[in-house]
Amino acid sequence: MTGAGVSAESGVPTFRDAGGLWEGHRIEDVGTPEGFTRDPLLVWRFYNARRRNLLDVAPNAAHHALANLERRCRDFALITQNVDGLHARAGTPNPIELHGNIWLNTCTGCTHYEWADATWRATGNPSAASFPDDPRCPKCAGRLRPGVVWFGEMLPDWAVRRAEQAVCRCDVMLVIGTSAVVYPAAGLAHLAAARGAFVVEINPQRTPLSKEADAVLSGKAGEIMPALLQRVASS
Ligand code: OAD
Repeated sequence: MTGAGVSAESGVPTFRDAGGLWEGHRIEDVGTPEGFTRDPLLVWRFYNARRRNLLDVAPNAAHHALANLERRCRDFALITQNVDGLHARAGTPNPIELHGNIWLNTCTGCTHYEWADATWRATGNPSAASFPDDPRCPKCAGRLRPGVVWFGEMLPDWAVRRAEQAVCRCDVMLVIGTSAVVYPAAGLAHLAAARGAFVVEINPQRTPLSKEADAVLSGKAGEIMPALLQRVASS
């Protein structure tokens, strides 16, 4: 399971380190359904700015090592709290995105959803991407919203179920680059430990999980993950 720290070396700011993602904005204004109802344009501008910043960002060695590890394992699941889509871009085929995906637009009025970066995906050209503020649904003309989970919202049911199933059957759980304070995601590591899995934390900082983890690899994901992969490959 990964958190914002896995994308830090790609240049994506984390949430709780200095200069975090919410800096300059109140979470209530841009990260809650109430904030969106109050001022959808402000929220759209915030998310579209995040999208534009992500256009210049590439997966790093940790994303690639995880995709590679998946190819070598018989049974592997990648759970992420990140919405940046970098695991998929590194080749992870089906990441479980607990907090949604910033590239998704979902309709507030019907079940329509669409990829905001469809042109970029189709052309491979980031400068072809355009992100209109306050876009509308092509089916019902309702207001679209970013396909991410906001504070006070439930996580997608299917994602939580898939994550719990993976955690309950795993032998080893790597918990990479998360402060382990945001639930229900943080609870997954405790669940894995309770079910007898070997829990490994990879993080340059200690977290509330550190005491409970079976091993703590203290350092950057982009350095530790490729080294770990090499050990797995040669064993
Ligand atoms: P945080 O910002 O809370 O924590 C990032 C963690 O990454 C910290 O523990 C850092 O020590 C660690 N870190 C920093 N650089 C790293 C590196 N190079 N390698 C490995 N670890 C590194 O981010 P999350 O735990 O992901 O939710 O935050 C969880 C949720 O809080 C987010 O998904 C978001 C936020 O509110 C929603 O938006 C719903």
